Amino acid sequence: MTPNSPVLELRKFVSPEFIFGCGARNQAARYAKNFGAHRVLIVTDPGIIQAGWVDPLIENLKIVALDHFIFANVSPNPHDEEVMSGADFYLKNNCDLIIAIGGGSPMDCAKGIGIVSSNNHHILTFEGVDEVPIPAPPLICIPSTAGTSADVSQFAIINDSLRKVKIAIISKTVVPDAALIDPEITCTMDAYLTACTGMDALTHAIEAYASNAHSPITDLHALQAVRLVNDYLLLAIQNPDDIEARSQMMLASLHAGLAFSNASLGAVHAMAHSLGGLLDLPHGECNSLLLEYVVNFNFSAEPERYNEIAAAMNLEPNQNSLVEGLADLRKQAGIIKTLGQIGVQRKTISELASKAIKDPCMATNPRSVTQKDIEGIYAAAL
Ligand SMILES: [Fe+2]
Repeated sequence: MTPNSPVLELRKFVSPEFIFGCGARNQAARYAKNFGAHRVLIVTDPGIIQAGWVDPLIENLKIVALDHFIFANVSPNPHDEEVMSGADFYLKNNCDLIIAIGGGSPMDCAKGIGIVSSNNHHILTFEGVDEVPIPAPPLICIPSTAGTSADVSQFAIINDSLRKVKIAIISKTVVPDAALIDPEITCTMDAYLTACTGMDALTHAIEAYASNAHSPITDLHALQAVRLVNDYLLLAIQNPDDIEARSQMMLASLHAGLAFSNASLGAVHAMAHSLGGLLDLPHGECNSLLLEYVVNFNFSAEPERYNEIAAAMNLEPNQNSLVEGLADLRKQAGIIKTLGQIGVQRKTISELASKAIKDPCMATNPRSVTQKDIEGIYAAAL
């Protein structure tokens, strides 16, 4: 063991209590009751209600005699004012627990509602690392996508409507108290959402593995997530009702979430947050379109680690093979547009880069970057 071995460094690993498996969602009411709740705020979005996932939750809450209130005014990139009106709604109804059911947006919004209601400050004041003084009320998350991992992470990403930038709130206080991770819910995702969220999970895994804050524990989770996405993403897209493929993708998302929540991320996420904030573009799609270009840029800083990622994807361990393998997987998953084709213009690259360089995820990117470097990566992905 060498003196600078990572095994000797102090490391913290944060994870919520979670139940993984088909039917896990049905435990929500029991958990709420055990947390001592009386009045439950359900945070979700109209698509999840329409897919029929909220009604059974309400029925279960009624069985254990808990009142419920529904807040579904959540857009795909949750905005600060949505969080603030959700917190108003929570306080007005004297709620004492939150259940978030949905993708990353309802879960991040729910995290925001929780910390705003307990601290009585505007959501944007919590930007950064460990800036939340008072813990939130109990939060139970039921994720509906296999990718975002907001159900296990200490991250909440909120859109600052005025500055048109996504802020990252990184705090133990936004780790849910329980995550009920149920692969059955993901069967109602369409093919493109499955692809984008699955590529988001792969990005979490790769960025956590290459992060300069990685540790032996996060490495285990990150590499396993890479293997599972590589083996099961296309199967889940091709056969939406294949519960084995859906479960393996949900497991991939869980592994990737545990990895990135503790090792943080890198330039892909910093640049995707900038795109999402300025142009309101879908998070998973942005990551998918940037990943191979960032890996190509970063490779020389951590060749061994990127070669291990390539090996986990059954690729030759070299730069070209990994970059091409990532592009192939993305295209086979049906994500074939370029950044330009989803609305990014060359004239906005400089503004995007200036916002991306300030994102907290950039701090753990394995290669240090300049504004010019980031502009070059955006331009390559155009
Ligand atoms: Fe992500």
